[in-house]
Amino acid sequence: MGKDVIIACDFPSKEKTLAFLDKFEGKKPFVKIGMELFYAEGPSIVKEIKARGHKIFLDLKLHDIPNTVKSAMKVLSGLDVDMTNLHASGTIPMMQGALDGLTREDGTRPILIAVTQLTSTDQETMERDLLIHEPIAEVVMHYASNAKAAGLDGVVCSPLEAGKVHERCGKDFVTVTPGVRFADGDVGDQKRVMTPAEANRIGSDYIVVGRPITAAADPVAAYERCCREFIG
Ligand code: C5P
Repeated sequence: MGKDVIIACDFPSKEKTLAFLDKFEGKKPFVKIGMELFYAEGPSIVKEIKARGHKIFLDLKLHDIPNTVKSAMKVLSGLDVDMTNLHASGTIPMMQGALDGLTREDGTRPILIAVTQLTSTDQETMERDLLIHEPIAEVVMHYASNAKAAGLDGVVCSPLEAGKVHERCGKDFVTVTPGVRFADGDVGDQKRVMTPAEANRIGSDYIVVGRPITAAADPVAAYERCCREFIG
């Protein structure tokens, strides 16, 4: 599994996204397309960025009954993305359905990862709103084990959890970690952060970086710094 920096393209329109990617000239960073951009522009934005030669993580976090998720994943698979995701809380049958829908006739498929507990959920909200009373770290590990049991490739998790996920699910189980900040940068609304170098040491396979690159005065330089610190 190749280590890489994924840029979160959290832009509201195609124009803004392509103007941002144009700055990279010959380089083709791995990009994340989330709900905002996908719902604004539809599948055509995925096709256009793919045609420009970028790898794509389509971050739509599916969660529905197994049959619906399976059918939706079949459609996403046809968009030829490299990675996509769902919520582990949809249960093992939903994750198995997703994997089935995502797998193309020739046996190939995008990398499929699961969101465990969102980093916006803490122990208190999990207990109060979801009536889950186990320690949140245990819940995250249990959801990661479920994702592995369902045959998925990995999870989205905090960089602080990546090492433990590898211990529990194996070193080949992919960890994709947001919440990355430069040592001298703004933390913004992320609560638990790590530098790219720390994320590397702890064993993250992919880091997802948004504002430290997209809001930088020189996004290309910020991306290159991120790659240097994370990949070496
Ligand atoms: O700008 P920033 O680096 O905080 O962007 C992080 C990206 O990772 C955003 O697209 C955010 O939605 C996503 N993400 C996250 N925490 C999660 C899951 C996804 O920050 N638990």
